[in-house]
Amino acid sequence: MSEWQKTDWRNKPRIQMPDYTDASALNAVEAQLAKYPPLVFAGEARRLKTHLAAAARGEAFLLQGGDCAESFDQFSADSIRDTFKVMLQMAMVLTHGAKVPVVKVGRMAGQFAKPRSAPTEVVDGLELPSYRGDIINELDFTRAGRIPDPRKMLQAYTQAAATLNLLRAFSTGGYADVHQVHAWTLGFTETEEAERYREIANRISDTLDFMKAAGVTQDTAHTLQSVEFYTSHESLLLEYEEALTRRDSITGNWLAGSGHLIWIGDRTRQPDGAHVEFARGVLNPIGLKCGPSMTSEDLKLLLARLNPRNEQGRLTLIARFGAGKVAEHLPRLIQTVREEGAEVVWVCDPMHGNTIKSSSGYKTRPFDSVLREVREFFAIHAAEGTVPGGVHFEMTGQDVTECTGGVQAVSDEDLSARYHTACDPRLNASQSLELAFLVAEELSRLRNARLDRAAG
Ligand code: PEP
Ligand code: CO
Repeated sequence: MSEWQKTDWRNKPRIQMPDYTDASALNAVEAQLAKYPPLVFAGEARRLKTHLAAAARGEAFLLQGGDCAESFDQFSADSIRDTFKVMLQMAMVLTHGAKVPVVKVGRMAGQFAKPRSAPTEVVDGLELPSYRGDIINELDFTRAGRIPDPRKMLQAYTQAAATLNLLRAFSTGGYADVHQVHAWTLGFTETEEAERYREIANRISDTLDFMKAAGVTQDTAHTLQSVEFYTSHESLLLEYEEALTRRDSITGNWLAGSGHLIWIGDRTRQPDGAHVEFARGVLNPIGLKCGPSMTSEDLKLLLARLNPRNEQGRLTLIARFGAGKVAEHLPRLIQTVREEGAEVVWVCDPMHGNTIKSSSGYKTRPFDSVLREVREFFAIHAAEGTVPGGVHFEMTGQDVTECTGGVQAVSDEDLSARYHTACDPRLNASQSLELAFLVAEELSRLRNARLDRAAG
């Protein structure tokens, strides 16, 4: 069999991708991107893979979150900082509850392209192509705006590079130092959850004071002063992905240079399709969304195709069935993975199976359904004796009203107040923290059960 090439996906059926009409503009953009530096490096992707391998064994836990779709309009240092802050807070709550390291991965610095349920959209009798994310066309409902424009890939690259630059600075430049644990709170989250967070932060500060008094110096404590923060996105727009794919100079293997982890969406996971063909050849950790229509037959093919060497940490299965449907689907997929002896990280995305249209007309997600799917995910893993390895959310540090419910009790009528998402509804900072407390409780219950068993 000849070696995988980054262009091989072009010979496979492609869906959910735009048909660019201006071939010369497209070629020029691809040539330009191919000259730009990669955004991430092979060593980083390999390191993330080892962390995910630990999550597969229950020795770490994945926290993956960020926008449904990053937007050119809402791009700002403040919004990146606020999302980063909320993720640090969530990670702190999880680490505290689970007593394992939390692997932090943003849906950031590349999460621009969106699969859509219909190719066109009709408003007041006018039918236009659907919005497919800022890297492809415009959200504004105008004929010109909805034409796919390849030049948007260059703007997406620039925004991703600037985002990553800021994230790298936040991660290592002192901001994420655990001594700042109190500073990560956001002004508007004056809720019960914020109070609970403050209690944990107080305990952490006490511990740090104790360590200092006991002679643990800044020097030996350097791991507390920075965090590792990784990026991820759906690998949907393959022209962009291909142009940023580079050979790793150390191993000679191919790296998707657009982000650390890339995932395949629930709509584009056909075993013989273009998206699987692309992902199978790169060395990055790969995510695979698994919705209710995932069959055992397809999953078997995908396990073999995406992780032929059965490497631990290479493949993350992101279950997104919807509250009330986990018991129907997760056990049969766990069974398939078991039969194949496959190494996977099991992750719960409680967002995408719980999207509804509210009475006020907005696309929303009831927070109760989100919580319920997370609980169901943990309960099934406990019953099956398998490892829940992480969670995947759409969230933002902004004080939005996009998902209903939560301690601040966002109602259907409230949705219009601050509904800013370019695509799916996200959890706001307060809802994200509330969710982190629930996950932490589940994880600490799991840990106690494990300790009880070990004690015999
Ligand atoms: C998403 O993660 O934004 C998404 C479209 O998910 P899924 O492929 O699971 O529907
Ligand atoms: Co989404």
